Amino acid sequence: MILVTGGAGFIGANFVLDWLAQSDEPVITLDKLTYAGNPENLQSLQGDARHTLVQGDIGDAALVAKLLAEHQPRAVINFAAESHVDRSIHGPGDFIQTNIVGTFHLLESVRGYWSNLPENLDCHGSAPLAMTAGATKSSFRFLHVSTDEVYGSLTKDDPAFTETSHIEPNSPYSASKAASDHLVRAWHHTYGLPVLTTNCSNNYGPYHFPEKLIPLLIVNSLVGKPLPVYGDGQQIRDWLYVKDHCSAIRRVLEAGRLGEIYNVGGWNEKANLDIVHTVCALLDELRPRADGKPYKDQITYVTDRPGHDRRYAIDAHKLERELGWKPAETFDSGIRKTVQWYLDNPDWVTHVQSGAYREWVQKHYK
Ligand code: NAD
Ligand code: TYD
Repeated sequence: MILVTGGAGFIGANFVLDWLAQSDEPVITLDKLTYAGNPENLQSLQGDARHTLVQGDIGDAALVAKLLAEHQPRAVINFAAESHVDRSIHGPGDFIQTNIVGTFHLLESVRGYWSNLPENLDCHGSAPLAMTAGATKSSFRFLHVSTDEVYGSLTKDDPAFTETSHIEPNSPYSASKAASDHLVRAWHHTYGLPVLTTNCSNNYGPYHFPEKLIPLLIVNSLVGKPLPVYGDGQQIRDWLYVKDHCSAIRRVLEAGRLGEIYNVGGWNEKANLDIVHTVCALLDELRPRADGKPYKDQITYVTDRPGHDRRYAIDAHKLERELGWKPAETFDSGIRKTVQWYLDNPDWVTHVQSGAYREWVQKHYK
């Protein structure tokens, strides 16, 4: 049994779906179901006895303690967060609350649970992590999912971020994530909590909420809306297909060294404008506009984001060297799959755009 927080969001849902596609080890998903939490992401697991979705806050100590005691997970994977930089600029409060205070409460709940776990189970000589049933003090893991944005911004010529780069967050979002990373680190050094932290670059893929660049481009293109490019569009991000992020997390969970940080990246640095042109070209090919014009005609330059980080780049050599992980997708293969997924899932897109996915949440949860 594992507990996944934030498992109804973009990356968390992909992680849960992939996990249960590859293993029968049950998952309990704890998610507050904020605007970004969409149970439709997990609809294919309805009626699957291996999965339980619980609506709740990582900061609700009583609920988290109850879930841990009841389900005895061998690992907690923490995806739960407020995740959108623009929202953090307009309203940082929720970011402080969930990403910092929420992570603190979660760490304390997990510490209480972990400290009372048995030292060891009789596992007949097999490695503790190979056992899927029964958590023990030594086999338990708390894996914290974080971002490359904690390292701040690079110039064009700077080397990519390594695990020892300075922590220099610039947005309320990245500052709140950096704070949570520090808490996780401190809970390991002070209390011995068996933690792992991953700092990953920009993800893209299925179930991505269309407030972020790539899904926004796809859904706006299809309904004839403008494609907003902030500033000059020359900001650079490293892009990783979400399934590759999920495989990296599984690998770190399985074999990562306790207390260590692992950078996760796709070796795909791209300027935003290149991303926009790529998505437009794929849509021209896969779903041409009715008027025969190219989608790039919808590009609109808008005022830049305040404090906009110029470049992120990830050096993922440690993960490759120590744990043998490499991304499976190139950017070309991943972005094609992504665009195709949005074209193949019009109901998901329509429900997200109309807000109908909230009605579903209200009917099934509260
Ligand atoms: P998301 O916004 O799509 O999903 C976040 C999920 O957390 C949602 O389901 C939301 O309902 C839930 N949540 C929010 N507050 C909560 C709370 N207090 N208690 C319980 N659940 C809560 O985000 P995402 O893009 O899937 O990102 C997941 C994690 O990965 C985040 O921690 C983010 O910082 C990190 N990350 C994201 C990216 C990226 O490119 N999206 C890159 C690197 C790291
Ligand atoms: P985003 O997907 O919000 O991720 P992050 O800010 O965490 O990197 O944005 C990716 C890049 O795209 C970032 O440089 C901001 C830019 N951007 C736009 O140019 N237009 C948009 O409409 C959005 C949402 C982002």
